[in-house]
Amino acid sequence: MEKIRRSPMFYVGDKYKLIEEIKQYFPKNINTFIEPFVGGGTVFLNVEAKRYILNDIDENIYNLHIFLQQKANEINFINEVLTYIKKYNLSRSFLEDVVPKELKREYKKTYYAKYNKQGYDKLKQDFNKLQNKNYLLLYLLLIYGFNRMIRFNSKGEFNVPVGNVDFNKNVLQALGDYFEFVENKDIKFENLDFKDFIIKNGFKDGDFMYLDPPYLITFSEYNKIWNEEKEHELLIFLDNLHQRNIKFAISNVTHYKGRVNNIFIDWMSKYNVKKIKSNYISYHDNSAKQIEEVLVINYD
Ligand SMILES: C[S@@+](CC[C@H](N)C(=O)[O-])C[C@H]1O[C@@H](n2cnc3c(N)ncnc32)[C@H](O)[C@@H]1O
Repeated sequence: MEKIRRSPMFYVGDKYKLIEEIKQYFPKNINTFIEPFVGGGTVFLNVEAKRYILNDIDENIYNLHIFLQQKANEINFINEVLTYIKKYNLSRSFLEDVVPKELKREYKKTYYAKYNKQGYDKLKQDFNKLQNKNYLLLYLLLIYGFNRMIRFNSKGEFNVPVGNVDFNKNVLQALGDYFEFVENKDIKFENLDFKDFIIKNGFKDGDFMYLDPPYLITFSEYNKIWNEEKEHELLIFLDNLHQRNIKFAISNVTHYKGRVNNIFIDWMSKYNVKKIKSNYISYHDNSAKQIEEVLVINYD
Protein backbone atom coordinates (compact mmCIF):
# COMPACT_ATOMS: atom_id res chain seq x y z
CA MET A 1 0.00 0.00 0.00
CA GLU A 2 1.28 3.40 -0.97
CA LYS A 3 1.69 5.92 1.80
CA ILE A 4 -0.93 8.68 1.88
CA ARG A 5 0.27 12.12 2.93
CA ARG A 6 -2.05 14.62 4.54
CA SER A 7 -1.42 18.33 4.30
CA PRO A 8 -0.26 19.79 7.63
CA MET A 9 -2.91 22.49 7.17
CA PHE A 10 -5.68 19.93 7.76
CA TYR A 11 -7.72 22.00 5.33
CA VAL A 12 -11.52 22.09 5.48
CA GLY A 13 -12.79 19.82 2.69
CA ASP A 14 -9.39 18.33 1.92
CA LYS A 15 -9.22 15.22 -0.21
CA TYR A 16 -7.40 13.08 2.34
CA LYS A 17 -10.08 10.40 2.57
CA LEU A 18 -10.67 10.33 -1.18
CA ILE A 19 -7.19 10.67 -2.57
CA GLU A 20 -6.68 6.96 -3.27
CA GLU A 21 -9.97 6.70 -5.10
CA ILE A 22 -9.40 9.85 -7.15
CA LYS A 23 -5.77 9.16 -7.96
CA GLN A 24 -6.48 5.86 -9.67
CA TYR A 25 -7.96 7.88 -12.56
CA PHE A 26 -4.95 10.18 -12.96
CA PRO A 27 -2.56 9.62 -15.91
CA LYS A 28 0.51 7.55 -15.05
CA ASN A 29 3.16 9.89 -16.49
CA ILE A 30 2.76 13.53 -15.67
CA ASN A 31 5.11 16.25 -16.80
CA THR A 32 3.67 19.24 -15.01
CA PHE A 33 0.98 18.70 -12.40
CA ILE A 34 -1.25 21.74 -12.17
CA GLU A 35 -3.73 22.67 -9.46
CA PRO A 36 -5.60 25.99 -9.79
CA PHE A 37 -7.41 25.38 -6.46
CA VAL A 38 -4.71 23.75 -4.35
CA GLY A 39 -6.14 24.46 -0.85
CA GLY A 40 -4.06 22.67 1.79
CA GLY A 41 -2.31 20.62 -0.89
CA THR A 42 -3.29 17.08 0.06
CA VAL A 43 -3.71 16.15 -3.62
CA PHE A 44 -0.35 17.32 -5.01
CA LEU A 45 1.40 15.73 -2.00
CA ASN A 46 0.26 12.37 -3.32
CA VAL A 47 1.08 12.79 -7.01
CA GLU A 48 4.39 12.11 -8.73
CA ALA A 49 5.27 14.56 -11.50
CA LYS A 50 8.33 16.29 -12.92
CA ARG A 51 7.07 19.77 -11.96
CA TYR A 52 4.23 21.27 -9.98
CA ILE A 53 2.44 24.55 -10.55
CA LEU A 54 -0.02 25.20 -7.76
CA ASN A 55 -2.38 28.07 -7.10
CA ASP A 56 -4.92 29.38 -4.65
CA ILE A 57 -6.69 32.72 -4.49
CA ASP A 58 -6.45 32.72 -0.69
CA GLU A 59 -3.46 34.80 0.29
CA ASN A 60 -3.02 33.07 3.66
CA ILE A 61 -3.04 29.60 2.16
CA TYR A 62 -0.56 30.72 -0.47
CA ASN A 63 1.74 32.27 2.13
CA LEU A 64 1.55 29.25 4.41
CA HIS A 65 2.69 27.03 1.53
CA ILE A 66 5.57 29.41 0.77
CA PHE A 67 6.45 29.42 4.48
CA LEU A 68 6.40 25.62 4.77
CA GLN A 69 8.32 25.22 1.54
CA GLN A 70 11.09 27.41 2.98
CA LYS A 71 11.06 25.58 6.29
CA ALA A 72 11.51 22.21 4.56
CA ASN A 73 15.25 22.82 4.51
CA GLU A 74 15.61 23.99 8.10
CA ILE A 75 16.41 21.20 10.51
CA ASN A 76 15.56 23.40 13.49
CA PHE A 77 11.97 24.09 12.52
CA ILE A 78 10.34 21.86 15.12
CA ASN A 79 12.52 23.37 17.85
CA GLU A 80 11.51 26.83 16.72
CA VAL A 81 7.84 25.78 16.87
CA LEU A 82 8.39 24.26 20.30
CA THR A 83 9.82 27.52 21.62
CA TYR A 84 6.53 29.24 20.79
CA ILE A 85 4.41 26.36 22.06
CA LYS A 86 6.20 26.67 25.40
CA LYS A 87 6.11 30.46 25.40
CA TYR A 88 2.30 30.35 25.12
CA ASN A 89 2.01 27.33 27.38
CA LEU A 90 0.11 25.22 24.84
CA SER A 91 -0.37 21.46 25.04
CA ARG A 92 2.04 19.34 23.01
CA SER A 93 1.12 15.69 23.08
CA PHE A 94 3.60 14.91 20.27
CA LEU A 95 6.30 15.40 22.88
CA GLU A 96 4.86 15.29 26.39
CA ASP A 97 1.58 15.35 28.24
CA VAL A 98 1.33 18.62 30.15
CA VAL A 99 -2.43 18.67 30.82
CA PRO A 100 -3.12 18.15 34.55
CA LYS A 101 -5.07 15.01 35.52
CA GLU A 102 -7.69 17.04 37.39
CA LEU A 103 -8.49 19.03 34.25
CA LYS A 104 -8.83 15.81 32.25
CA ARG A 105 -11.16 14.38 34.90
CA GLU A 106 -13.33 17.47 35.05
CA TYR A 107 -13.50 18.13 31.30
CA LYS A 108 -13.33 14.63 29.85
CA LYS A 109 -13.90 15.64 26.24
CA THR A 110 -12.84 19.28 26.16
CA TYR A 111 -9.68 19.44 28.24
CA TYR A 112 -7.46 20.59 25.39
CA ALA A 113 -9.70 23.59 24.76
CA LYS A 114 -9.76 24.39 28.50
CA TYR A 115 -6.01 24.00 28.86
CA ASN A 116 -5.06 25.98 25.74
CA LYS A 117 -7.58 28.82 25.88
CA GLN A 118 -5.51 31.34 27.80
CA GLY A 119 -2.30 30.83 25.82
CA TYR A 120 -4.18 30.68 22.53
CA ASP A 121 -5.93 33.98 23.20
CA LYS A 122 -2.61 35.60 24.06
CA LEU A 123 -1.03 34.15 20.91
CA LYS A 124 -3.93 35.52 18.86
CA GLN A 125 -3.59 38.93 20.49
CA ASP A 126 0.15 39.06 19.80
CA PHE A 127 -0.33 37.88 16.21
CA ASN A 128 -2.97 40.54 15.58
CA LYS A 129 -0.72 43.30 16.94
CA LEU A 130 2.04 42.64 14.41
CA GLN A 131 2.36 44.94 11.43
CA ASN A 132 3.33 42.05 9.12
CA LYS A 133 1.85 38.58 9.40
CA ASN A 134 4.08 36.05 11.12
CA TYR A 135 3.32 32.74 9.41
CA LEU A 136 4.75 30.56 12.15
CA LEU A 137 2.28 32.15 14.57
CA LEU A 138 -0.52 31.84 12.00
CA TYR A 139 0.31 28.16 11.58
CA LEU A 140 0.09 27.63 15.36
CA LEU A 141 -3.23 29.49 15.48
CA LEU A 142 -4.49 27.14 12.78
CA ILE A 143 -3.27 24.01 14.57
CA TYR A 144 -4.82 24.93 17.94
CA GLY A 145 -7.87 26.73 16.53
CA PHE A 146 -11.49 25.66 16.22
CA ASN A 147 -11.93 23.28 13.25
CA ARG A 148 -8.42 24.22 12.14
CA MET A 149 -9.91 27.20 10.35
CA ILE A 150 -8.29 30.39 9.11
CA ARG A 151 -10.68 33.33 9.38
CA PHE A 152 -10.18 37.06 9.67
CA ASN A 153 -12.76 39.71 10.57
CA SER A 154 -13.38 42.87 8.55
CA LYS A 155 -10.68 44.69 10.53
CA GLY A 156 -8.17 42.11 9.37
CA GLU A 157 -7.90 40.41 12.76
CA PHE A 158 -7.63 36.65 13.05
CA ASN A 159 -10.79 35.68 14.92
CA VAL A 160 -11.06 31.90 15.29
CA PRO A 161 -11.66 30.68 18.88
CA VAL A 162 -9.54 27.99 20.51
CA GLY A 163 -10.33 24.43 19.39
CA ASN A 164 -10.35 21.22 21.34
CA VAL A 165 -7.22 20.16 19.48
CA ASP A 166 -3.54 19.85 20.06
CA PHE A 167 -0.14 19.73 18.36
CA ASN A 168 -0.13 15.93 18.30
CA LYS A 169 1.76 13.17 16.52
CA ASN A 170 -0.44 13.51 13.41
CA VAL A 171 0.59 17.14 13.03
CA LEU A 172 4.25 16.23 13.41
CA GLN A 173 3.88 13.42 10.88
CA ALA A 174 2.05 15.64 8.37
CA LEU A 175 4.72 18.33 8.67
CA GLY A 176 7.51 15.79 8.21
CA ASP A 177 5.77 14.30 5.17
CA TYR A 178 5.21 17.73 3.64
CA PHE A 179 8.86 18.72 4.12
CA GLU A 180 10.14 15.44 2.77
CA PHE A 181 7.92 15.69 -0.30
CA VAL A 182 8.58 19.30 -1.28
CA GLU A 183 12.31 19.28 -0.58
CA ASN A 184 14.33 19.45 -3.80
CA LYS A 185 11.23 19.33 -6.01
CA ASP A 186 10.35 21.84 -8.68
CA ILE A 187 7.23 23.33 -7.10
CA LYS A 188 5.88 26.79 -7.82
CA PHE A 189 3.01 28.37 -5.91
CA GLU A 190 0.89 31.21 -7.24
CA ASN A 191 -1.75 33.43 -5.68
CA LEU A 192 -4.13 34.29 -8.51
CA ASP A 193 -7.71 33.93 -9.59
CA PHE A 194 -7.93 30.63 -11.51
CA LYS A 195 -8.52 32.40 -14.85
CA ASP A 196 -5.38 34.51 -14.61
CA PHE A 197 -3.45 31.49 -13.41
CA ILE A 198 -4.52 29.32 -16.35
CA ILE A 199 -3.94 32.08 -18.93
CA LYS A 200 -0.55 33.04 -17.48
CA ASN A 201 0.84 29.51 -17.44
CA GLY A 202 -0.24 28.35 -20.93
CA PHE A 203 -0.04 24.59 -20.45
CA LYS A 204 1.25 21.95 -22.88
CA ASP A 205 0.64 18.42 -23.99
CA GLY A 206 1.81 16.00 -21.24
CA ASP A 207 0.68 18.37 -18.51
CA PHE A 208 -2.19 17.37 -16.27
CA MET A 209 -4.58 19.60 -14.39
CA TYR A 210 -6.55 18.55 -11.33
CA LEU A 211 -9.25 20.95 -10.20
CA ASP A 212 -11.08 21.04 -6.91
CA PRO A 213 -13.02 24.31 -7.02
CA PRO A 214 -15.49 25.44 -4.36
CA TYR A 215 -18.73 23.54 -4.84
CA LEU A 216 -21.71 25.66 -5.85
CA ILE A 217 -24.21 23.77 -3.71
CA THR A 218 -22.30 22.94 -0.50
CA PHE A 219 -21.39 25.23 2.39
CA SER A 220 -17.96 26.39 3.51
CA GLU A 221 -16.06 29.66 3.98
CA TYR A 222 -14.49 29.62 0.52
CA ASN A 223 -17.83 28.91 -1.20
CA LYS A 224 -18.81 32.48 -0.39
CA ILE A 225 -16.47 33.70 -3.10
CA TRP A 226 -17.88 31.27 -5.69
CA ASN A 227 -21.00 31.73 -7.81
CA GLU A 228 -22.75 30.57 -11.01
CA GLU A 229 -20.84 33.03 -13.14
CA LYS A 230 -17.48 31.66 -11.92
CA GLU A 231 -18.71 28.13 -12.46
CA HIS A 232 -19.65 28.91 -16.09
CA GLU A 233 -16.31 30.62 -16.67
CA LEU A 234 -14.40 27.66 -15.30
CA LEU A 235 -16.29 25.13 -17.41
CA ILE A 236 -15.66 27.16 -20.58
CA PHE A 237 -11.95 27.20 -19.72
CA LEU A 238 -12.00 23.43 -19.36
CA ASP A 239 -13.67 22.96 -22.77
CA ASN A 240 -10.91 25.08 -24.16
CA LEU A 241 -8.21 22.95 -22.51
CA HIS A 242 -9.89 19.86 -23.92
CA GLN A 243 -9.67 21.30 -27.43
CA ARG A 244 -5.96 21.85 -26.85
CA ASN A 245 -5.52 18.18 -25.82
CA ILE A 246 -4.66 18.97 -22.21
CA LYS A 247 -5.82 16.32 -19.79
CA PHE A 248 -7.82 17.38 -16.78
CA ALA A 249 -9.78 15.88 -13.89
CA ILE A 250 -12.26 17.94 -11.90
CA SER A 251 -14.00 17.09 -8.63
CA ASN A 252 -17.48 18.29 -7.86
CA VAL A 253 -20.65 17.60 -5.94
CA THR A 254 -23.73 17.29 -8.14
CA HIS A 255 -26.35 16.64 -5.43
CA TYR A 256 -26.28 17.90 -1.87
CA LYS A 257 -29.17 17.70 0.59
CA GLY A 258 -31.87 18.46 -1.93
CA ARG A 259 -29.78 20.89 -3.96
CA VAL A 260 -28.72 20.04 -7.50
CA ASN A 261 -25.92 21.60 -9.57
CA ASN A 262 -27.53 21.53 -13.00
CA ILE A 263 -24.86 23.72 -14.58
CA PHE A 264 -22.23 21.11 -13.79
CA ILE A 265 -24.47 18.13 -14.60
CA ASP A 266 -25.27 19.48 -18.08
CA TRP A 267 -21.62 20.22 -18.76
CA MET A 268 -20.19 16.90 -17.53
CA SER A 269 -22.30 14.79 -19.91
CA LYS A 270 -19.70 15.53 -22.63
CA TYR A 271 -16.95 13.85 -20.63
CA ASN A 272 -16.07 10.71 -18.69
CA VAL A 273 -17.84 10.77 -15.30
CA LYS A 274 -16.65 8.68 -12.32
CA LYS A 275 -18.77 8.45 -9.20
CA ILE A 276 -16.83 8.98 -5.98
CA LYS A 277 -17.92 7.87 -2.53
CA SER A 278 -18.43 11.19 -0.87
CA ASN A 279 -16.56 12.95 1.90
CA TYR A 280 -19.73 14.60 3.04
CA ILE A 281 -21.60 11.54 4.18
CA SER A 282 -22.80 12.10 7.70
CA TYR A 283 -24.16 9.09 9.51
CA HIS A 284 -25.99 11.32 11.95
CA ASP A 285 -28.34 13.10 9.61
CA ASN A 286 -28.90 10.09 7.39
CA SER A 287 -28.31 12.18 4.30
CA ALA A 288 -25.96 9.76 2.55
CA LYS A 289 -28.37 9.13 -0.28
CA GLN A 290 -28.75 12.83 -1.01
CA ILE A 291 -25.09 13.45 -1.79
CA GLU A 292 -23.26 12.65 -4.95
CA GLU A 293 -19.64 13.46 -5.62
CA VAL A 294 -18.04 12.98 -9.02
CA LEU A 295 -14.68 13.14 -10.74
CA VAL A 296 -14.95 14.19 -14.39
CA ILE A 297 -12.05 13.40 -16.69
CA ASN A 298 -11.55 14.29 -20.36
CA TYR A 299 -9.68 11.12 -21.34
CA ASP A 300 -10.25 7.34 -21.26
C1 LIG B 1 -12.38 22.71 -2.26
S1 LIG B 1 -11.02 23.75 -1.82
C2 LIG B 1 -9.62 22.81 -2.37
C3 LIG B 1 -9.24 21.76 -1.36
C4 LIG B 1 -8.01 20.93 -1.77
N1 LIG B 1 -8.33 19.95 -2.79
C5 LIG B 1 -7.42 20.18 -0.57
O1 LIG B 1 -7.28 18.94 -0.60
O2 LIG B 1 -7.07 20.85 0.43
C6 LIG B 1 -11.18 25.05 -2.98
C7 LIG B 1 -10.08 26.12 -2.95
O3 LIG B 1 -10.30 27.04 -4.02
C8 LIG B 1 -9.86 28.33 -3.63
N2 LIG B 1 -10.52 29.31 -4.51
C9 LIG B 1 -11.78 29.81 -4.42
N3 LIG B 1 -12.04 30.65 -5.44
C10 LIG B 1 -10.93 30.66 -6.23
C11 LIG B 1 -10.59 31.32 -7.45
N4 LIG B 1 -11.45 32.14 -8.06
N5 LIG B 1 -9.38 31.09 -7.99
C12 LIG B 1 -8.48 30.26 -7.36
N6 LIG B 1 -8.74 29.63 -6.19
C13 LIG B 1 -9.95 29.81 -5.63
C14 LIG B 1 -10.24 28.41 -2.16
O4 LIG B 1 -9.45 29.36 -1.48
C15 LIG B 1 -10.02 26.97 -1.68
O5 LIG B 1 -8.74 26.84 -1.10
